[in-house]
Amino acid sequence: MGRSAVVAGLGAWTPPRVVTNDMLAAELDTSDEWIRTRTGIDRRHVVDPGTSTGHLATEAGRRALESAGTARVDLVVLATSTPDRPCPATAPVVAARLGLAGVGAFDVAAVCTGFVYALATAAGLIGTSVADSVLVIGADTFSTITDPADRTTRVVFGDGAGAVVLRAGDDEQPGALRGFDLGSDGNGVDLITVAAGGSEHREADADGWFRMAGAQVFAQAVRRMSESVRTSLTRVGWTGDDVDLVVPHQANVRILDACARDLGIPTERVAKNIDRVGNTVAGSIPLALADAATRGVLKPDARVVLTGFGGGLTWGSTALTWPDITAAYDD
Ligand code: UT7
Repeated sequence: MGRSAVVAGLGAWTPPRVVTNDMLAAELDTSDEWIRTRTGIDRRHVVDPGTSTGHLATEAGRRALESAGTARVDLVVLATSTPDRPCPATAPVVAARLGLAGVGAFDVAAVCTGFVYALATAAGLIGTSVADSVLVIGADTFSTITDPADRTTRVVFGDGAGAVVLRAGDDEQPGALRGFDLGSDGNGVDLITVAAGGSEHREADADGWFRMAGAQVFAQAVRRMSESVRTSLTRVGWTGDDVDLVVPHQANVRILDACARDLGIPTERVAKNIDRVGNTVAGSIPLALADAATRGVLKPDARVVLTGFGGGLTWGSTALTWPDITAAYDD
């Protein structure tokens, strides 16, 4: 037995405002039919002005703490690529709002793979006894960075957040995170990007909106998530047949179905909530987990693989046996 990070609580939150496909079709050259058939999305949640990623992260974090039955953790790690400000990180303000001022708090930026990267970071810090408990949050508000006139991105993304509490335990108990796989390929930096606003492009006319080369990203997403799941399964000694539920980043329902086919796993064993929330970036995997747990799709002792792919390019996976916890999430 070894010291391991164990999932002890799960919470998620989406802002109350719902934007349907028909509402977008009233503004953009698109249709409910195109969005449903090309992405699998029916609706998404969007923040009102004044609500930021930090607010979503705080709501999800509070619910994860409630689910774990604790008010204290040693560390807060927030995965986001829409921080409240370019500087400083958003995690410290989230920690303070949760009554955790004083604990270590930092952001992790790996776009849609951010939650898996943050889990791996937290698991490493627990494994090396830097922390005994960590609140890991994934939160994004891509509605604040998508070009209102860009139909190719605006229909895809939604705002949302999810979080887990990790506690030190042993690697054989339910909830222990195992078999991490992380990868990146910076040659694809331009495929998913906000070009301006960083240190590279400071000129006033640089494009400050989020841009995605959808079709190129699609093929990469299927390949990278499938390969990454296979690597995690090999590391934990499972086959595809052993997996009860794959919980992938919710990028596009056609990507999820293609991954299932590639892995030889029935599509019923792939968690899907993209129809109701869209692509919520770093919030996507914990929101899909919370949705599956509250609907009874995810049961204690189920063998689960989490996998993500996104900007960077980045990808990553981890595997666990689902613990006996009650998720805090009102859809
Ligand atoms: O989260 C990180 C990872 N992200 C992903 O993995 C996203 C991967 N990509 C996708 O999900 C899809 O590529 C999109 C949903 C973004 C786009 O779907 P697609 O089937 O790949 O469409 P496309 O970009 O190949 O475009 C096909 C056509 C184009 O028209 P023409 O040139 O054939 O006349 C687009 O202009 O569909 C058009 N189109 C739209 N039409 C109506 C693109 N967006 C829309 C739209 N409504 N919203």
